[in-house]
Amino acid sequence: QAALAPDQRLSGKHILVTAGPTHEPIDPVRYVANRSSGKQGFAIADACAQLGARVTLVSGPVALPTPAGVTRVDVETAREMADAVGAALPADVAVMVAAVADWRVEAAGQKLKKGAGAPALSLVPNPDILADLGASPHRPRLLVGFAAETERVLDHAAAKRAAKRADWIVANDVSGDVMGGEANTVHLVTETGVESWPHAPKAVVARRLAQRIADAL
Ligand code: CTP
Ligand code: CA
Repeated sequence: QAALAPDQRLSGKHILVTAGPTHEPIDPVRYVANRSSGKQGFAIADACAQLGARVTLVSGPVALPTPAGVTRVDVETAREMADAVGAALPADVAVMVAAVADWRVEAAGQKLKKGAGAPALSLVPNPDILADLGASPHRPRLLVGFAAETERVLDHAAAKRAAKRADWIVANDVSGDVMGGEANTVHLVTETGVESWPHAPKAVVARRLAQRIADAL
């Protein structure tokens, strides 16, 4: 009995995925970060590779194995992530799943001692990697962002789609227990409107997105 040929519709395509948090040092032993397990981004990298894509996965600090066939670049800070994204271009598609820290700290060179009193952290804005890619001459043909929201999910997602010049925003309602969990509830916001997908394991959401990417190319 012949096996079905696997769907390799993304073969010959380079897909860049960012995933996980970034860590912004306060001093050599402390950092500020967003919450992110990296699971959804890693699942998307895996799903794209399974459709035959060449995948570069730029990952912040996470505790996850590298999906088979995926080239992984580990970074710590937002600026390192921005540099790694730039170095990975050109790409046919970019899917920016990372929970990038919006600010970095003017870090101390030596460990701060608590006896000296609570330090006032001086925060500086980080580069917006997705928005910079949206405005870049190297903008991938299909640019996909995520939006983690706790309220007015679709309004915020549509605003981000426009502001960052993304083709699609995957809007993620994180008011429940999505963070670190195995399942996700998302809405795909495109130029034609909003598609609400059923609550599903992150691997299922990832396969669905990879199929949509293959349809769009
Ligand atoms: N993003 C990015 N670089 C940043 C911040 C965000 O590439 N410095 C990307 C994320 O990977 C995601 C999208 O932008 O694809 C939206 O991130 P999000 O944090 O939801 O939006 P922000 O624009 O940072 O706005 P806010 O956190 O205030 O909601
Ligand atoms: Ca943010």
